[in-house]
Amino acid sequence: MIYLDNAATSHPKPPAVYERVDYVLRDCSANPGRSGHAMAIEAARIIFEARESIAQLFNISDPDRIIFTPNATGALNLAMLGMLKPGDRCVTTTMEHNSVVRPLHALSEKGVTAAKVGAALDGSIDPRAIAAAIDARTRLVVVTHASNVVGTISPIAEIISLAHDRGVPVLVDAAQTAGSVPIDVSALGVDLLACPGHKGLYGPQGTGFLYIAPYLNPEPILFGGTGSRSDLETMPDFAPDRYEAGTQNTPGIAGLGAGVEFLLERGVNEIRAHEVALMRRLMDGLASIDGLTIYGPRDPAQKTGVVLFTFDGVDPAEIGDRLDTEFGIAVRVGLHCAPQAHRTIGTFPAGGVRMSPGFFNTAEEIDRTVAAVGQIAREGRVAAA
Ligand SMILES: Cc1ncc(COP(=O)(O)O)c(C=O)c1O
Repeated sequence: MIYLDNAATSHPKPPAVYERVDYVLRDCSANPGRSGHAMAIEAARIIFEARESIAQLFNISDPDRIIFTPNATGALNLAMLGMLKPGDRCVTTTMEHNSVVRPLHALSEKGVTAAKVGAALDGSIDPRAIAAAIDARTRLVVVTHASNVVGTISPIAEIISLAHDRGVPVLVDAAQTAGSVPIDVSALGVDLLACPGHKGLYGPQGTGFLYIAPYLNPEPILFGGTGSRSDLETMPDFAPDRYEAGTQNTPGIAGLGAGVEFLLERGVNEIRAHEVALMRRLMDGLASIDGLTIYGPRDPAQKTGVVLFTFDGVDPAEIGDRLDTEFGIAVRVGLHCAPQAHRTIGTFPAGGVRMSPGFFNTAEEIDRTVAAVGQIAREGRVAAA
């Protein structure tokens, strides 16, 4: 199989990820932070080390400000529901994933308003438009670091700087960039960073995290046991315990730690260079097919490893199905949980075909993919004639 769906979940993982998960499940699946015996202490050490590795990768000075969540959605919910209160306003964009759109919609029923700043046809966001939308009631800016539909990378340095000039913190949705585009939390001054563990960080599904800057104190959205301050009926007032109620996903976090160690060894820049080269080859190949339209920036340096296309007169679902069943190529079609983004670029409601190569794809796989799309396109033209 040629797996081109890394924007949904990365596959395969570096071998050390499988080994670490296996080790935890077999040899130390005790409850971290709860009991005092040797196996529980080993489980807690593994979680501690994963937090440390993540802190190193993102240049986060205090690893305890990294809160483990089940996915990026959990991290985004914690940030928005924890930060926004009735009467508050949030500024966001039309390129956001439903994991931002839906919590904000739910919050709108509790008196939180959201201003959605439009993006250009290629999915790019103007930082000045975000700055202009900030008013006296704005308590948070929420912006995707890169679109999961077209891959367009947002200018987060400028967005953060302009929002900070107006005293407003920024929540960055790094679902599409964590691990594949360098992110220096300290240098950028990121206030809240939401990441999945199972995409570019090579962890298993069921992992993710939210980084919360030390000067922010969102309300917890989950309440329960933490193994600390068990005498209290309230959540402990220190991170990460304030936000991590219930037993942790130790095998998943262990695997995530191994994925992040792989990234630290290889360097995000090497991963990025490989993905940009694959993207250039893929986009050049697809662009040579008559009747095919590519959306988003044409320069791979301006985007992540995501290409979206449509083909005149052929339903994207049919193309995805043929790629899967006849050629063994895994892609994702439709709206990609981001209907507003598809409206913005003009592909709503049918959506498009999304291909997202990753570090483990090869140039040869890209060439076979382009040939397969070319064949489907030729047959589509013959059938239409
Ligand atoms: C931009 C963006 N934000 C958030 C998410 C949600 O991530 P998760 O599936 O880890 O909750 C995704 C998933 O595809 C995404 O692409």
